[in-house]
Amino acid sequence: MATLGEKFFAWFDERFNLKEDLRKILKKPVPPYATHPMYCLGGISFLCYLVLVVTGILLARYYIPTPEEAYSSVKFIMQEVTFGSLFRSIHHWAANMMIAAVVLHMFRVYLTGAFKKPRELNWIAGVALLLTTLIFGFSGYLLPWDQLSYWATTVGLQIPASIPVLGPAILKIFIGGAEVGAETLARFYFLHVFLLPMIVFMLLGMHFFMVRRQGISEPL
Ligand code: HEM
Repeated sequence: MATLGEKFFAWFDERFNLKEDLRKILKKPVPPYATHPMYCLGGISFLCYLVLVVTGILLARYYIPTPEEAYSSVKFIMQEVTFGSLFRSIHHWAANMMIAAVVLHMFRVYLTGAFKKPRELNWIAGVALLLTTLIFGFSGYLLPWDQLSYWATTVGLQIPASIPVLGPAILKIFIGGAEVGAETLARFYFLHVFLLPMIVFMLLGMHFFMVRRQGISEPL
């Protein structure tokens, strides 16, 4: 006998013929070499990203992005909110794991020559994903607004500031004033919870589309 879920799906399927499209998307055979752990690093990066989105939404429910409230709201999350410290820790470790997984994934792609024709554009999308992942980590680091995050951001901003010609303009966009302050925190929060997630969403769409169209490259 069909379960409630199956009946629900059948109702939609009758109207939109979903089964056929889903079969096409999900039933594509994976080549045997692509089940090697080295070929799972892209998937692991994606899994970390999903964990970050879910835990990030939960944290954003309590976090307040102003210099007066940021630190105390993080303290509140850690000490008062039910499972707050657990979800903050998961967010923290998933961020570290994602950076490690993305870098290892890039090495795998490089060492197996998967960046060559016809996958050059996917390599470029990957480089953009690497950059956005790093900026994600950097912008999140300021949010607890403690001594460590304040000074790490002040020092870290010297990296874009040292880019020839464009450096001072880039610094101004990030910092929003003479030094790291309320404006910087607001900008980093906007980057972290709105702009970067949208950019990553679009880049991942392109990345996965190309992987599906071109298939996983054969090992050398
Ligand atoms: C958020 C970060 C990223 C995610 C979630 C991601 C995800 C994936 C996934 C799931 C695959 C297919 C399976 C695999 O090969 O592991 C893949 C393939 C690929 N990725 Fe990424 N990726 C990311 C970053 C990067 C970076 C930093 C680069 C390089 C600079 C890159 C370049 C490629 C290329 C060229 C392929 C095709 C590989 C092949 O056909 O063998 N990706 N990616």
